[in-house]
Order: sequence, then C-alpha cells, then structure tokens
Amino acid sequence: MTKLSDELLQQLLAASLAARQRSHSPYSKFAVGAAVLDEQGRIHLGANIENAAYPQGWCAEATALGAMVMAGGRRARAVLVSGPGPDVLTPCGGCRQKMREFAGDDLLVIAGDASGIKQQWTLAELLPFSFGPDHLK
Ligand code: THU
Repeated sequence: MTKLSDELLQQLLAASLAARQRSHSPYSKFAVGAAVLDEQGRIHLGANIENAAYPQGWCAEATALGAMVMAGGRRARAVLVSGPGPDVLTPCGGCRQKMREFAGDDLLVIAGDASGIKQQWTLAELLPFSFGPDHLK
C-alpha cells in the first residue's frame, strides 16, 4: 500500500472536508467530499452533485476524478472521501470502479469526517478481482 505521511493525510482530509462544503445535495441532505492525490502530488477536489431528476446526480469521487483528469492528471495515488459521520463512509461500488480506471490494486482509499480519519483500505480490498483497462489490451 502507498504510505502517506501524517501531514499529507491531514492535508487530504482538510481538502476533502472543504470540498464537502460545496456539495449540492438538497435531496439526500447527505453531503460528501472527496480529495484525490495524483501522481504529481497535486490534490483535486470533488463533492456530490445531485439533480432534481434523481438518477442524474453523481458522487463526490466522480467529481474529483473528473477534476484530476481535466487538470492533466492520469494516475491517482490516494482518494480521501469524507461524509457526515459518525458512520464510516465507504465509497459506493460505482465509484470503486471509477477509481480503478486511474489506479491499481495499491490505491489508498481513506474515509474520514470532521472528527478525523476513520479507516483506510487498498482498492484491492474494496474491489477485489477488478476489471480494468488492462483487460482491453
Ligand atoms: N455519495 C457519494 O458522493 N459518494 C459515495 O461513495 C456514496 C454516496 C453521495 C451520492 C448521493 O448524493 C448521496 O451521497 C446519498 O447517496
């Protein structure tokens, strides 16, 4: 698993919590933030963006991965997802697959909230035996 310094982990948590403030979630009222650390050490932000046509909304992780791609990033090293707490927010299945597009088994996925970092996994733990870009070669 990628090892991140405590300082970087705290930076990612702060970024994710700041992103969470921008959530557009008037329907679920469940605000989620995400911060993606890319291969260049840059942090990209995202929040969930819901829609009056409910199925058209999307998750915080999708926003953050999109921000990374548009900034020229192509590889994610870590993703920190923050929710309202106190329950640990584990990324949804669709988001795990979206992460897989830009990372391998060793991607660090971290869950946190305003009280701090709650849990960490590798992507392999969250999405074992995954289908990825290599399968299309
Ligand atoms: N949500 C995320 O943003 N990320 C996840 O991994 C889980 C769920 C959002 C989607 C929706 O706007 C709200 O949380 C409730 O499901």
